[in-house]
Amino acid sequence: MRRPSEIGAAVIGSGFIGTVHIEALRRLGVQVHGLLGSTPDRGAVSAERIGVPKAYASLGDLLDDERVEVVHVTSPNHLHHPQAREILAAGRHVVCEKPLAMTSDESRDLVALAAESGLVNAVNFNIRFYPLNQHVRELVRDGSAGDVRLVSGHYFQDWLLLETDWNWRLVPGLGGSLRAVGDIGSHWLDLVAFTTGLRITEVMADLATFIPVRREPTGPVETFSTERAAETVDRSITTEDIATILLRFENGARGTVAISQLSAGRKNSLEYEIDGSAASIAWDSEQPDQLWIGHREAANEILIRNPALMGAAGQAAAALPGGHVEGFADTFRAIFRAVYADVGSGRPAEHPVYPTFADGHDEMLVGDAVAASARDGRWTRVERAQEAPLRVLEDSVRP
Ligand SMILES: NC(=O)c1ccc[n+]([C@@H]2O[C@H](COP(=O)([O-])OP(=O)(O)OC[C@H]3O[C@@H](n4cnc5c(N)ncnc54)[C@H](O)[C@@H]3O)[C@@H](O)[C@H]2O)c1
Repeated sequence: MRRPSEIGAAVIGSGFIGTVHIEALRRLGVQVHGLLGSTPDRGAVSAERIGVPKAYASLGDLLDDERVEVVHVTSPNHLHHPQAREILAAGRHVVCEKPLAMTSDESRDLVALAAESGLVNAVNFNIRFYPLNQHVRELVRDGSAGDVRLVSGHYFQDWLLLETDWNWRLVPGLGGSLRAVGDIGSHWLDLVAFTTGLRITEVMADLATFIPVRREPTGPVETFSTERAAETVDRSITTEDIATILLRFENGARGTVAISQLSAGRKNSLEYEIDGSAASIAWDSEQPDQLWIGHREAANEILIRNPALMGAAGQAAAALPGGHVEGFADTFRAIFRAVYADVGSGRPAEHPVYPTFADGHDEMLVGDAVAASARDGRWTRVERAQEAPLRVLEDSVRP
């Protein structure tokens, strides 16, 4: 079993999230040998900015570097499938950003390739790795909430509120045909399946596009940038700004979620509540060190994240003592720590504790059902019947 400091990695993409990946890898001691940008010149500028030794000229150049054992894919969504494919074919472990692919055909292909390869494969549903979310999964599993009956919540952001806001995510060929659902809804849907240990079986979805024409700047734009460009061209928008979805879970529980990229003031607000027959549990990503536990016949509780007061999984994800706030960037350290334990042993554990390509694929199947339901205006099943048994998924999602 090798330590992270003995393992070499490279990162594709050096935008908002590629930078977070690199910083988390450094905290673990992983040797980040280089990065790949959209062009060699842009890559060189990013390598200088982040302090990475090398900018590769191409993916082929990166994969020629024998020191690189793990490749992180943080490029725009349309590149995930071809890049992850090439990485696996070159015999390297892969950590891919969500969504895993543009379509469920692509994600199914990646699940099969990863299984054949025997290599470590992870999808970065990092929100699972807030320590309190790991703890919630344990609370539900040990019966503290009783039978889960209702799962509700939202994921709201405001960075696409104005018609002048622009990003590659708005172009279906780059981001996918679902936008708010694929970009942020996928996190919420994955998270509640993880915390409850229950898969979503049916959905009834309503998708709405409130800004049908946006102004695309003629120059490049950074994710979450609020700068207004002087020169723009009008672009028609076909993907959803807002989604409202009713859910049914495999145990009969009901759910409801609202997803929006147009909620003024909500920068990155993910909330969920699980109402069970014995207790309720609620978590808010903007107060991530606090968990609300609701009781009918006793005073409600606020659990402040504290390794001494959480189960084993919560403890494993925590880096700091209670009262020393952990946040978004810390979840990357926690999820990569779990992934690199498997990399250190050379292959995926029988029951990986991090989300795998199988989980990324299952999320794509839920997305397919959301799109079909919105199109047809009716309840739609998540079609898993034709899938090969996804043992890894079963193991990682079920309690
Ligand atoms: N897990 C999370 O919390 C989280 C958060 C944000 C984004 N993401 C995901 O990460 C990915 C990137 O999002 P972002 O917000 O960082 O976007 P971004 O636009 O900030 O960065 C994308 C990067 O990819 C690079 N790139 C573009 N084409 C490339 C190519 N052909 N080869 C190599 N690199 C190329 C760009 O130069 C840029 O550095 C998306 O898939 C997104 O869904 C995940």
